[in-house]
Formats: sequence, structure tokens, C-alpha cells
Amino acid sequence: MNDAKHPSRPADPAQSEGDVNSSPNRAAWQQTHLDDASRALLARDSAAFLHQSVSTPCLAAIRHAEGVYIEDVAGRRYLDFHGNNVHHVGYAHPHVVGAIKAQLDALSFAPRRFASERAVELAETLSQRFASLTGQPGRVLFTTGGSDAVEVAIKLARIATGRFKVLGFWDSFHGAGFGASSVGGEALFRHGTAVGPLMPGTGHVAPFGCYRCPYGHAEHAVDADGQPDLTRCRLACAAMVKYVLEREGDVAAVVAEPARAVPFIPPPGYWRAVREACNAHGTLLIFDEIPTGLGKTGRFFAAEHDGAAPDIVVLGKALGGGVLPIAACIARSDLNVAGAYAFGHYTHEKNPVTAAAALATLEVIEREGLVENAARVGAHALARLREMKQRHALIGDVRGRGLLLGIDLVHDRASKAPATDVADRVLYRALARGLSFKTTMGNVMTLTPPLVTTQAQMDEALDIVEACLAEEAREGRQQTR
Ligand SMILES: Cc1ncc(COP(=O)(O)O)c(C=O)c1O
Repeated sequence: MNDAKHPSRPADPAQSEGDVNSSPNRAAWQQTHLDDASRALLARDSAAFLHQSVSTPCLAAIRHAEGVYIEDVAGRRYLDFHGNNVHHVGYAHPHVVGAIKAQLDALSFAPRRFASERAVELAETLSQRFASLTGQPGRVLFTTGGSDAVEVAIKLARIATGRFKVLGFWDSFHGAGFGASSVGGEALFRHGTAVGPLMPGTGHVAPFGCYRCPYGHAEHAVDADGQPDLTRCRLACAAMVKYVLEREGDVAAVVAEPARAVPFIPPPGYWRAVREACNAHGTLLIFDEIPTGLGKTGRFFAAEHDGAAPDIVVLGKALGGGVLPIAACIARSDLNVAGAYAFGHYTHEKNPVTAAAALATLEVIEREGLVENAARVGAHALARLREMKQRHALIGDVRGRGLLLGIDLVHDRASKAPATDVADRVLYRALARGLSFKTTMGNVMTLTPPLVTTQAQMDEALDIVEACLAEEAREGRQQTR
């Protein structure tokens, strides 16, 4: 293969929503922690799969997943505070697994031209949820993955508005498909020269993110308690969205995560200001709640925190109960205007088994009070992280909502220089102690435990985080400086 034909730059962890497999500390970890069986399976995985930066070659091999835990082939158990945000109800929840088994016996597939009871029931349930968020009834389309559901949302917005432009945010991720990665702003998925031209008509603005405000307000955007100081920053991040919508005049949709999975939490009033700008310019607001919906942030929809209703919401990941792939695009029912097109023609649109998994998942979330648990355990965790920040100079900022938590590591608090090398070492130290999480943008330890996490499990994980930070402060710096 001629490399000149495949120009690509190495994956830059500082521009990635996940830790990349080129980490310098990975090989050392593997040297110590893998057994022969793991090595053999990893070798086969590496030989069989196309390589890419956030999966193959893989870190380790897995043999069991249950509740909050995963167990690798070498027999090591980890609290899984990553879980790709699919494991809201915990891995292998008996109610979800039971519902899938029962549905397999009753009806295992429905071709698209046939209505299926389970799929209809799920669409009705999600429509009601959408109505409780927006005050308007919703209509639904199912896909197999989140990226596809984002494509559906974009196409629907184009058809409904008769416009083609879409505004997204730098550093956001909405999926690996062409439409989704075009509106997404993450370099790892865009690499212009390697992938080639993306979807025309997509623009991007810098996102909100007070601690590292891209509009240069970071020094005064946050007050002494870490709360956004809106009298001083005046929401430049929202003003920029308004500016673009006004200048372009014909944008079909703004596509965004209401709470950024990095994580970054929007400053108060941000989404209300964007909503007003959308209303003023005939632009639809699409919220991608694929990782953050279904209770992760301590409310069923992440958007519930911000008092701004979207026109379209996309859910995915945990919707299949951490077992099966299913995602949903839920739109205001008056956007049901594309009956003459096939804009979401996915094979598993009416699949009764994935629908049964989703219905069972929603039942578990409701019956076990998981949204409330996420709010309670998340608040406890954030309070502990704030205390931890006082003891560890490596922590520049802690932030989060519910069970979406971030620890922004810095070399020093004055410069806020991202401590990417430190975060990577801390990740492998934590894995060695039985905690899995992911690093985001290179230096943010991102903890996204399942909604079933107990306070005791959260404390165990935070004890590991603190021990790793202390160890890093003692020993780590000599390794890079
Ligand atoms: C915000 C967001 N949108 C979309 C996606 C894509 O979902 P999927 O991987 O199911 O295509 C992801 C996946 O990580 C995501 O985090």
C-alpha cells in the first residue's frame, strides 16, 4: 500500500473523545497484566479486524460483564465507569435479558412492511416521554445505531425546512457516518486528507465549556465557586450560534449534545438563548442525547436541566439495555412531513427483539428509580471530587451532572496546561487497581458509571482515583519531566 495515497496524521489524544490505542503507557500495562489466553485472543483480534485508533488493537480481552463490573480473560475485575454509556441498567440485567429471551421465542423479526406490537409500544412510550419534555407529541423512527439516528434527524430537518445547511460544534461527536461525522467536530473522525470531502453545508462554531472557554473568557467566566459568571461572560458561546444563524439565514438545524460528554455543562441560559435564535431564524434544534439521555445526568432527558425544548431528540446506546443495538430519532409530530421519501430505511426499523430490550430497559429505569439514583450518587460524587480538588494540585477542575463526571487534569492551575501525559498514566494506574474509565480530550478523566452504581461502589472508585492521583504526584512527574 502506498502511504502517500493514504495520508493520515497520528491520532491526537487531545482532540479525541476517547483514549487512543497509541498510548505510550498501554504496552507497559499489557506487559504486566495480560495472561497467555488474553494475548492469544488479542493477537487474533488484531489479525482479524481493521485497525483504528480507539479499538483494535485492543487493550485486553473480556469474558464476563454483570452489573457495574466487567471481568477480563485473565480474571481481573473492573468497576466499569466507562461502558460506552450503554450500561445504564448494568450489564446483563435479568429483566432485560429475560425480555429478550421471551421475545425471541414469540417473534424474532418483523420485516418493515409489517407493524410489530413491541416496536409500536416502544414508539408510543418514547413519544410520551418526548411530550413530557417538549409539551408536544412526538413521532419516532428506529435505527440500529446512534450515528444512523443522527443521519435520520439531519435528513428530516432538511426535508422539513427545505434547507440543507447544518450547524454543529467543534469537538463534538455524533457518530462515524458521513453525515454525523460532518456535523461532528472531532478531528479523529474528520482528518480531511485521509477521509476526503465531507457533507457540504455543515458549519461549526466553538462550543460552550466555561473552564476552558474557547471564546477567551475562561479567566473570568467562572466565579470563585466554579459557577459561570454570566454578568461578565455574557454567553459569547450562545451569541456565536445566533450570529451564524443570522448571517447564514437559511440553516436547517443546529445539532448538539445538550451536556457535552467531555463533560462540559452548559452555562445557565445557554440553551434558552440558542433556542430563541433558532426560533428567530426558522432553524430546528436537534439534541443528541445518545450517551447522556435516559437518566445519565439525573434527569430522564439531559435537556430537562436547561429549560429549552428541542424539535428532535436522538437516543441510543443504553436504549438497548447494554445488550442489543437500537437507537431512536424522536421528532415533533408536526415534522411528520416526509411520507413520500425513504429517509430512514433501516432493516431493523420494526425489530421486535431490540424493541423488547428497550421497553424492558425503560421499565428497569423507572421501577428501580435509576434516574433518581443517578442524581443522588452523582451529587455525592461531585461533592467528593470538589474536596479532592483541594488536596490535589493536578486537578484543575471537576464538573458534571448526575453520573456524567469529569476531572480536568492540569500541569498547573494558573496556566491550565492540559496534563495529557498524567491522565494517560492515571488511567493505567486505575486499570491496575480495578477501575476502568476513559480519558477525553487527552486530559479529562471522564467517569460515566451505570445508573445502578451504589454510593459504596462510587466511593470505592473515587478512592482508586484519589490513590492514583497521589501516586502520580509522588512518582509520575519524574517519568515525563
Ligand atoms: C454524542 C454521540 N452521538 C452519537 C454517537 C454514535 O452512536 P453509535 O456509536 O451508536 O453510532 C455517539 C457514540 O459514542 C455519541 O457519543
